Amino acid sequence: MMKNQWILITGASTGIGRVATEFLQQKGYSIYACARKEGDLQDLGRIPNVIPIKLDVTKNEQIEQAFQEISDRKTGLFGLINNAGIVHAGPTMDLDVEELKHQFDVNFFGVHRVTKQFFPLIKKSKGKIVMIGSGAGIIANPFFAPYSSSKFALEGYTDSLRRELLLYGIQVVIIEPGMVKTPIWDKGEALLGNYNGDMLKKEASGIGSMAVQTARDIGLPPEKIASLIYKILTKKNPKPRYAIVPNYWMRQLMLKMPTRMLDRFILKKMQKFQ
Ligand SMILES: NC(=O)c1ccc[n+]([C@@H]2O[C@H](COP(=O)([O-])OP(=O)(O)OC[C@H]3O[C@@H](n4cnc5c(N)ncnc54)[C@H](OP(=O)(O)O)[C@@H]3O)[C@@H](O)[C@H]2O)c1
Repeated sequence: MMKNQWILITGASTGIGRVATEFLQQKGYSIYACARKEGDLQDLGRIPNVIPIKLDVTKNEQIEQAFQEISDRKTGLFGLINNAGIVHAGPTMDLDVEELKHQFDVNFFGVHRVTKQFFPLIKKSKGKIVMIGSGAGIIANPFFAPYSSSKFALEGYTDSLRRELLLYGIQVVIIEPGMVKTPIWDKGEALLGNYNGDMLKKEASGIGSMAVQTARDIGLPPEKIASLIYKILTKKNPKPRYAIVPNYWMRQLMLKMPTRMLDRFILKKMQKFQ
């Protein structure tokens, strides 16, 4: 049964998307693996049961073309995994609106563009839509305003969509990973090196470097997220949201703590870098 089920994954070139592509095809799914670069598409095309699709989530023409190609193949589509994402960070008062717009263009509007385009196929199969949110969409750390706000927005979007699509029997699930060991952290580290502003420079780079190091030390292997995606796709009634973090109790503590207490705790961390 599963052999005939097709799954589309955005951002399949590296990290969670790449690992999920391999994991799901090994479990018997067929995958439309989306990437932007020619080399990545060729690489993905060498994996059995994987069809590479050129797709930048900010480009309407590519999304329409991808939809046409997949519709023409008449395979149907059972699962849509909205995984593509980028991180912008830095002192909030230093950010240009353009930086925020770019962050939202990929992490938020990109999700809407792709979901809206492929919805007819998901509706037809009574399939599933999986969003890759983030723990940063539940608790916002300092210097991560662009990324956090895009993932908070995704939470609201997902809740609305999930409730609407109950009427069609389509499940919409959001995964909220904590730190995962993927290239996203190397990209974050490069961002830190490019920061030219003066505002809160020491604090921002201290908190940023600490986040990168912590992800490298204790980040979850991306296979854990891939395996959770598999569970969601195969379970009859998956939960609406799944938090998956390296340190469960720390997350629980931060969620339960009064906001002022959490703020003081974070302030102490930032002051260490002054
Ligand atoms: N790693 C973590 O700690 C963590 C934690 C929570 C949530 N997440 C979320 O997990 C998802 C995957 O991230 P990752 O950690 O696996 O990072 P990653 O290895 O950097 O992968 C990001 C993927 O998104 C793609 N992408 C970027 N901009 C795109 C665009 N405009 N159109 C289409 N694809 C685009 C990248 O493609 P290119 O190679 O072409 O740039 C890449 O395939 C993201 O949504 C991220 O926010 C990650």
